[in-house]
Amino acid sequence: MDGEPLIRCMVQEANRSLLVGTLEELKRKGYFSVTVQGHDIVLFYQEGEVYALDNRCPHMGFPLSRGSTKDGILTCDWHHARFDIKTGGCFDLWADDVPVFAVNVIDGNIFVRIEQANKRKEHLRAHHLQRLNDAMEQNIALIVAKSVLTLDSQEVSSSDLFRKGLEYGTRYRQEGWGVGLTILTCMMNLAPFSRISEDRLRAIYHGLSAVADDCSGQPPRFTVSPLPDVQSTSADVGTLKRWFRHFIEVRDADGAERCLITAIRAGKDQNIIADMLFSAATDHRYLDSGHVLDFTNKAFEALDIVGWDMAEQVLTSLVTLYAKATRMEERSSWRHPVDIVTLLNDCSDKLPAVLERGKQSQKTWKASKKTVDVLLGDNPAAIVNILIESLQDGAKHEELAAIVAYAAALRIAQFPITNEYSDWNTALHTFTFANAVQQAIHRLPSSKELLRAIFDIAMSNYLNRFLNVPSVALPYDKEEPINNKNSESNQGNNMNRFLDTLDKRHQVNEAAKMVVGFLSTQGEEEELSSILVHALLREDRSFHTIQMLEAAFRQKAELQRLQILDGVKPGSHVLIATTRYLAAHTPTARAQRQTFEIAWRLHQGGKLYEEIS
Ligand code: FES
Repeated sequence: MDGEPLIRCMVQEANRSLLVGTLEELKRKGYFSVTVQGHDIVLFYQEGEVYALDNRCPHMGFPLSRGSTKDGILTCDWHHARFDIKTGGCFDLWADDVPVFAVNVIDGNIFVRIEQANKRKEHLRAHHLQRLNDAMEQNIALIVAKSVLTLDSQEVSSSDLFRKGLEYGTRYRQEGWGVGLTILTCMMNLAPFSRISEDRLRAIYHGLSAVADDCSGQPPRFTVSPLPDVQSTSADVGTLKRWFRHFIEVRDADGAERCLITAIRAGKDQNIIADMLFSAATDHRYLDSGHVLDFTNKAFEALDIVGWDMAEQVLTSLVTLYAKATRMEERSSWRHPVDIVTLLNDCSDKLPAVLERGKQSQKTWKASKKTVDVLLGDNPAAIVNILIESLQDGAKHEELAAIVAYAAALRIAQFPITNEYSDWNTALHTFTFANAVQQAIHRLPSSKELLRAIFDIAMSNYLNRFLNVPSVALPYDKEEPINNKNSESNQGNNMNRFLDTLDKRHQVNEAAKMVVGFLSTQGEEEELSSILVHALLREDRSFHTIQMLEAAFRQKAELQRLQILDGVKPGSHVLIATTRYLAAHTPTARAQRQTFEIAWRLHQGGKLYEEIS
């Protein structure tokens, strides 16, 4: 469009409208732009009518005064989003509707009505809630980011945004719960570790975008109905649990889902439902490399955030996963040269008596260096025996799970980078499974079924022993401290130095040393957590890296709480493991970060194209 824009200064209030210019001038120029009360407005004269629109293109902020008009359609010259000049409605769903302003022409003067802030706020909240839904349907990350930022400023809580993602993800993916919802839940868990408010929103953006990505192009999911007359159903919970496990055993997802939804609709206690699911998730060994139990644990964590009213929709979304899962009994590595499955089955037969002896034990169980060495060793029978001995000595299930999870973390902390790159994930799967088992035990502290999973972790970790040949030495506990913790600028420097390290590839050992340096300085631990979250969120999403960090934070806290290992700092080793994993998977292209930053700058009212007026 030709002609220079005219900035008006003659703003007055008349009938709560603002004087922005004269009709004569608008007719002569065809358009002009004006800034009034903080609003950039563009006015057009088209076929005898005056139109006023927000001058910032809702896509990326390009001035619409530089756009083109034809046949009542305004086209932004930047990425060619098209708008109805009258209503502001956008024909391109990846952009957004542009706000329009009511216009009055009185005695040749043009007045524009600016809506009161509170009226606009109501409108914005409803609009952006709808936009968030549209963005997930269309899988457009920029709109997800913009909606998250706007809704946050409209005081929509992160748990409400999380709920929206949960509703969407459990409905619009036929396969049910998947990677997207797991990332979303991990992000909700990680966000509180950040000291950077922008990162907390970035976490939600990543989570919701992951759900949109995971559902993109997928058919929706329809839940089955409960059994008839559910309140008085003759099927008691024991029967429903038995049927559920049987249907999973024969891979009948529909039958299993009907049992599950019947139990939930009948108002059975949350722990009873958890017991149904976790029992079936451990009826076979290490289902789908731990994903079944891990996803189940995450689904329960999601319900902890949003409330049990979503239990039917959330928990039934897991059932297909159960029915289709690969069972490690079917894998040769679990059968040959050592028949691990038979070893574990024999052990399961002994467990009732073992647990009885454990109850009589007067000791307070503690793990020892020997316990850890055996768990990392190459003798599966010895590993089973030390777990049994620990139970007999009074180890609680959560303690045993924590020490086995610690051993799984050590595989990663001592993983040589000469291994095949994909083997990072082999070690990761065991650790994240271990974390899920340990967390699930909080719900069911004495579940015999979940106890079996602790032995599965230990066996999976045994099978991973080749990943520590040779084993990398842990960084020295007395690495150079991070100095001057009281100085804010030094904290910033430490953060920058660490992030700089992760800007380069293969800084696995260097990054781990820096972490030990952080940990050697009292008070730096929380700062370190925030930095690690920031380092994760600035990268493109990697499902496994997200899982790793989230599980590491959990297990570090568990080891600090349980105090089951004297003489070493197991929590530090878990953080070393997660830092090494993160460093092995950075840097990425950071395209998703760029998208969020564009949205952030637009949200702050910044112009992406300052030089263009
Ligand atoms: S279409 Fe207007 S800025 Fe992209």
